[in-house]
Amino acid sequence: MSAADSAPPTVDAPDSALEAVPGGPYAPPPTGLTHRRGPFTKGDRVQLTDPKGRLHTVVLEPGKQFHTHRGAVEHDALLGRPEGIVVTSTGGTDYLALRPLLVDFVLSMPRGATVVYPKDAAQIITYADIFPGARVLEAGVGSGALSCSLLRAIGDAGRLVSYERREDFAAVAQRNIETFFGGPHPAHTIRVGDLLESRERDIDRVILDMLAPWDVIDTVSAALLPGGVVCAYVATTTQLSRVVEALRGHGTFAEPAAFETMMRNWHVEGLAVRPGHRMVGHTGFLVTARRLADGVTPPVRRRRPAKTGLGEAPDPAVAGLDPAVAGVTDPGAVPAATVPAVVASSNSDPVAPAAEGQAEA
Ligand SMILES: C[S@@+](CC[C@H](N)C(=O)[O-])C[C@H]1O[C@@H](n2cnc3c(N)ncnc32)[C@H](O)[C@@H]1O
Repeated sequence: MSAADSAPPTVDAPDSALEAVPGGPYAPPPTGLTHRRGPFTKGDRVQLTDPKGRLHTVVLEPGKQFHTHRGAVEHDALLGRPEGIVVTSTGGTDYLALRPLLVDFVLSMPRGATVVYPKDAAQIITYADIFPGARVLEAGVGSGALSCSLLRAIGDAGRLVSYERREDFAAVAQRNIETFFGGPHPAHTIRVGDLLESRERDIDRVILDMLAPWDVIDTVSAALLPGGVVCAYVATTTQLSRVVEALRGHGTFAEPAAFETMMRNWHVEGLAVRPGHRMVGHTGFLVTARRLADGVTPPVRRRRPAKTGLGEAPDPAVAGLDPAVAGVTDPGAVPAATVPAVVASSNSDPVAPAAEGQAEA
């Protein structure tokens, strides 16, 4: 090792690991960060939780008070103090003070249209593979709930173009998104109009939350780059079937995958550890598909012929069918003629464990 190798670095080293990374103090902070970290400041939204778990949201202003029937809380008692403190009203009630998370904000913000629930927004971010810097096309914007999640995932260097055909909904969404981020987001554009009018190209991901996503498949196909992902969120099985068949029949997409997510909260107290009594039973289904390169025909995938389980040759009537659909566990449950012989490829199931041919050594 030479003397130069062992000499101390001549440039000022950052004081902490955070300073060395993009977004540290040497780079402009990501949009919205100033209202998410550090002591409470003027203009911050604060969620106050009372002893019964009721939530109240206040926007901090010096000299102002928040009034409840349990007395008043001075905003000055919060300003300059850290998140997670407890403040006491003049009536003696304690309130826990925290900034609302995106989940809290979405469930309490003003709504034009129905929002994508946080559990589904989380799935969309992962299964539609939304990444920092991505170019994303979305329709409709509705109340802007999903847009907030998408903007967070793509960051300031990405681009989100959100189409909404109702001007009043677009205005609600714009307000909600600006409230959440503390101002306009540099990566976001809302266009009032039908997605069918879009001439967007070179898009990485398209997210559809609308009544009739099958109507816009040509537009989506033209917008997406090869390998791009389309993800549709639909509420009913009839919509699910129609959008999957439209994607499958279009010829420019690989085999679609469809799934839903159920989330059940648990009650955990002492020995009483059990599922909660209530849950949101249904929100919607997600469909994802990848854009093929131009001119490519989707490969036909077949499952292995189902075994009868009795050492016999497979029944030709059910060969090539998913065992569950073919009625192997319940013979005769589905007439073979009603089920197509070519079914989804094994890797079209987004939540299955390592599929055939993908198993790790
Ligand atoms: C369920 S809402 C979307 C909610 C939104 N994803 C959210 O999380 O707040 C569906 C919206 O799609 C809009 N819409 C339906 N078809 C459309 C189309 N072809 N182009 C643009 N917007 C459309 C509707 O006006 C409606 O506001």
